[in-house]
Amino acid sequence: MQVIHHIAALRAALAGQRDVVFVPTMGGLHEGHASLVKAAVSAGGPVVASVFVNRLQFAPAEDFSRYPRSLEQDAQLLSAAGCDFLFAPSEQELYPEPQGFKVQPPSELATILEGSTRPDFFTGVCTVVLKLLSIVTPAKAVFGKKDYQQLLLVRAMVRQMALPVDIIAVDTVRDQSGLALSSRNSYLSESERVEAAQLHGLLQEIAVAVRTRSADRREIEAHAIATLVGLGFKPDYVAIRRRSDLMAAAADEPLVVLAAATLGTTRLIDNLEI
Ligand code: PAF
Repeated sequence: MQVIHHIAALRAALAGQRDVVFVPTMGGLHEGHASLVKAAVSAGGPVVASVFVNRLQFAPAEDFSRYPRSLEQDAQLLSAAGCDFLFAPSEQELYPEPQGFKVQPPSELATILEGSTRPDFFTGVCTVVLKLLSIVTPAKAVFGKKDYQQLLLVRAMVRQMALPVDIIAVDTVRDQSGLALSSRNSYLSESERVEAAQLHGLLQEIAVAVRTRSADRREIEAHAIATLVGLGFKPDYVAIRRRSDLMAAAADEPLVVLAAATLGTTRLIDNLEI
């Protein structure tokens, strides 16, 4: 695997390649990322992964400075998973001047759920994803379903901007306890790690309750929030939505339940398709 830090060098290395598959990441990589790279390898073509902690998607009080940075370990994981090129630009390389041009995502999707507590988050995500797509010019790009709302926004951006890239979605990888793998899990203490798995358990219970229609959806959400509080989490939301646009579902449509909650100092998100 070649490690490349500069845009010009990456473009030179990829010159003439038409079927590049791209996996954008912020580093702090784990088996979930390895599964994204493996999906990229199966999609054919040379695989490019990026590692870049994107300041634009962090609010001032968020964890930009403590976000895990482990490029050497990341490189080993990527190489073992079959990645051909690791693009790891510095901030100076990706944002040599203040990034005045930004992608403004549609508010109906970007200001709900994650966007309700993180107002500039999806602007930062869409801006860097567009910039990375413009640098790598892949035929396909791979995103995890763990960040469900991000996946939908990226798909919408690609569609509305007619970007010539296919988006591949990959299922969330979990540890044995059910906890969704996340770079931020490294903030959890041993005991918090055990407690954190209860979030997934709760989503499973919600899925069963929705499927068996044992209660009204609003009641299920309210009950889940109360349960999380009782378990020591500080929940931001638990929401049963339709998969296509994360709006309230009218009838029998494919659903997803999404949740975000803080445990100690770690903010966890997870979701489950119902
Ligand atoms: O999902 C992530 O890790 C990030 O939001 C992404 C897509 C790499 C953009 O910085």
